[in-house]
Amino acid sequence: MANPSLLILAGDGIGPEVMAEVKKIIGWMGARRGILFDVSEDLVGGCAYDAHGTPLTDATMAKAQAVDAVLLGAVGGPKYDKLDFSVKPERGLLRLRKEMDLFSNLRPAQCFDALADFSSLKKDVVSGLDIVIVRELTSGVYFGEPRGIFKEGNERVGINTQRYTESEIARVAKSAFELARKRNNKVCSMEKANVMESGILWREVVQEVHDRDYPDVELSHMYADAGAMQLCRWPKQFDVIVTDNLFGDLLSDMAAMLTGSLGMLPSASLGAPMASGRPKALYEPVHGSAPDIAGQGKANPIACILSFAMALRYSFDLGDEATRVERGGGKGAGRRLAHRRSDGSRRRHPGHHRPDGRRGSGGTGRQPLSAGSRGPDRLVTQM
Ligand SMILES: NC(=O)c1ccc[n+]([C@@H]2O[C@H](COP(=O)([O-])OP(=O)(O)OC[C@H]3O[C@@H](n4cnc5c(N)ncnc54)[C@H](O)[C@@H]3O)[C@@H](O)[C@H]2O)c1
Repeated sequence: MANPSLLILAGDGIGPEVMAEVKKIIGWMGARRGILFDVSEDLVGGCAYDAHGTPLTDATMAKAQAVDAVLLGAVGGPKYDKLDFSVKPERGLLRLRKEMDLFSNLRPAQCFDALADFSSLKKDVVSGLDIVIVRELTSGVYFGEPRGIFKEGNERVGINTQRYTESEIARVAKSAFELARKRNNKVCSMEKANVMESGILWREVVQEVHDRDYPDVELSHMYADAGAMQLCRWPKQFDVIVTDNLFGDLLSDMAAMLTGSLGMLPSASLGAPMASGRPKALYEPVHGSAPDIAGQGKANPIACILSFAMALRYSFDLGDEATRVERGGGKGAGRRLAHRRSDGSRRRHPGHHRPDGRRGSGGTGRQPLSAGSRGPDRLVTQM
């Protein structure tokens, strides 16, 4: 049987640096565990523009459509800020997401024990937290028509339209149920069926998909505002949360902050199953290209490494290997913290958010987000 194929698009800025750490892990898996991938590499973003005058060539797009999974670093940088909108580095990423029709965005919120002190919530509320928000990514109020700012009498009116078809709801629900089966078999669907018709339809369709195809998965429904409260009160009650584009945008950022460390965040964007049965998939860290630290050996690779771990789990059915890689990331973070506390003090990492909203180092301006040492045992927040 052919090895699974992986297209690496390291991109710009710190992209190639963080990806270099992932490549070491891929090499290690081949040499030590006999798990081999057919890895190809290509350009995306500013570096693709430099080479080809476009942030993503048709040839690279075709490769992305053909492989089992794409792993992306980051794109962009000040060098490209003045480019025409149509060839900006971000257009390369957006083209990938659009043409691969990646409608299901997975954002995990996982709290490594070593980081539990950094959450704004009590340690016992977040320690060991491991949930995933599945956000619908290609429809809903961010795309619905009509939209715009119109004149109405003597004033302007801003309009956006929340619109979901049954099939759009069904496919993201299916993706959440499939995910739950690989985890703790629980899905909570969130909408506002109490005040929005699109919410009523959302709830009905999720229930139908469940009853027809996933009766073995435990399903609950919650209004999104109540869900936000429950995420703060006792987040460990959840396993997989599925929700629309707008609520998912808010709830996934909120869930990420529960972990106290936004900057170690991976993400996956999944589309429809391919002939192989695997979903179309793009994995990428949530952070950007960090041009301010690029080339200085300061970039924290953990978000990119955890993105690769998601690829192992969700594209390649290598859950045990994913756990091994994730544990490595958690241990690395813990080592760094242990080091920083070796004098017994409880100094906060400069990049960590405190409940009062200020950075841990007490500075008032923008802080560098890396801890300033080499290796994957470094922390970073925000983004
Ligand atoms: N998905 C993407 O590729 C993506 C996402 C966001 C921003 N961007 C692009 O990245 C460029 C910079 O954007 P920005 O500064 O707003 O966001 P950013 O995420 O690149 O950086 C924000 C801050 O976090 C730090 N940081 C980010 N990742 C880090 C890491 N792994 N280790 C250590 N520190 C890290 C940076 O040094 C910076 O201080 C822009 O061109 C933007 O368009 C790309």
